[in-house]
Amino acid sequence: MDDTVQITYAGKTYHFPILEGTCGEKAFDISKLRSETGLITFDPGFLSTGSCKSEITFLDGEKGILLYRGVPIEQLAEHSNFLEVSYLLIHGHLPNKGELEQFNFHITHHSMVHESIKNLYDGFPKNPHPMAVCSTIVGSLATFYQEHQVNVRDEREIEISIHRLLAKLPTIAAYSFKKSIGQPLPYPKNSLNYTENFLHMMFSNPCEEYELDPITARALDVLLMLHADHEQNCSTSTVRLVGSSMCNLFASVSAGIYALWGPLHGGANQAVIEMLQHIYDDGGQVEKFVGMAKTPDSKFRLMGFGHRVYKNFDPRSRIIKDLAYKVFERSHVNEPLLEIALKLEEIALKDEYFIEHKLYPNVDFYSGLIYKALGIPVNMFPVMFAIGRLPGWIAQWKELQADEEFRIGRPRQVYMGRGKTDYIPLDERSE
Ligand code: CMC
Repeated sequence: MDDTVQITYAGKTYHFPILEGTCGEKAFDISKLRSETGLITFDPGFLSTGSCKSEITFLDGEKGILLYRGVPIEQLAEHSNFLEVSYLLIHGHLPNKGELEQFNFHITHHSMVHESIKNLYDGFPKNPHPMAVCSTIVGSLATFYQEHQVNVRDEREIEISIHRLLAKLPTIAAYSFKKSIGQPLPYPKNSLNYTENFLHMMFSNPCEEYELDPITARALDVLLMLHADHEQNCSTSTVRLVGSSMCNLFASVSAGIYALWGPLHGGANQAVIEMLQHIYDDGGQVEKFVGMAKTPDSKFRLMGFGHRVYKNFDPRSRIIKDLAYKVFERSHVNEPLLEIALKLEEIALKDEYFIEHKLYPNVDFYSGLIYKALGIPVNMFPVMFAIGRLPGWIAQWKELQADEEFRIGRPRQVYMGRGKTDYIPLDERSE
């Protein structure tokens, strides 16, 4: 039987069914492994573990393919916009005109936050990281919309929570920046589109008119689309795991923002710029840093290189690299860090270690440089990633709640600690 996997253990053979995805990937279903054999699997970092069936995003790391609901990322980046992509991810199909208008309307008209939310920003100490602020404020939305903690299976309640969250995250994010520079918190403007509105809230002030640059807004929109979903990555798996306790959307996404923050995930774009700056300040000796990255003892990694799934190239990084050139050409920014980045990429891509380890520039290698050119402060880069990833988190959370095979997430472990040990009273313990 080649449509099953056979496992022979303790003299007995067991058969486990094969599951085949639409694009041909295969998995063997071990959901009954423990009940039938008494064994569990051991897979730290989940390198070989599929945690769910999903219809949202397909990616082939060997071929460098990324599809949102079947549509290639390259086509979306060229023809679509962030809100349309959000609709596609969340609802499963490209919207028709009427559906998109309705969706736009709802997102636009939920972008204001409750006035009391503004008081929360006053409670943080000086210069808090905006990821911590955004996660906290997003979690606090559950206190403002308490009825939506009750039933995560009610379609109308889910829909309105989705609109609120998508609409308010740019406002929440922009306020975290405004607060940090001591400027008043501007209201969103309903006449602007999603990314224009974010730029307006980030950069306008009551003393002068902020001139919106359509090219900047489009560049930002493309970046958001490229980040919109990436199947079961660390933060998305977090959103699903938290959501699997039937926890509300706000709490699940708040946890996702924290998971995204780390430098190995969404914090990498900030880490890339800090690394490039460090190389620049050190005299621009790129070879020295490439050498360090190859020395395991140095614990130094080239930020923006490598990906758990993409082993040949990251399709998003190609689009982003082109975008970076356009943005830099247009803004005539003399950015020494771009030169360092290009040199780093050139040297690393020819280097035996990087070739052998299949380490290529990932989506975050260039995104930070673009954000920097757009005037977005470095500690806001992971927040930009969070705004982009939000529709993906929402789509995955919604899919989880509707899953007929839904069960609370609960991995097992292999315990390696002490065996049963008797309690020793304090005065009998040796020093
Ligand atoms: N620089 C130098 N060596 C590296 C790097 C790097 N950036 N990434 C991986 N390696 C080496 C690593 O030392 C290991 O070597 P060896 O087998 O000799 O011990 C080997 O490559 C495999 O590394 P790994 O950590 O087991 O690979 P992983 O698939 O678990 O990790 C990764 C993937 C993205 C966490 C990792 O490549 C990394 O830390 N990259 C830098 C951080 C980064 O850019 N993160 C953003 C990822 S893209 C945005 C997102 O989707 O989150």
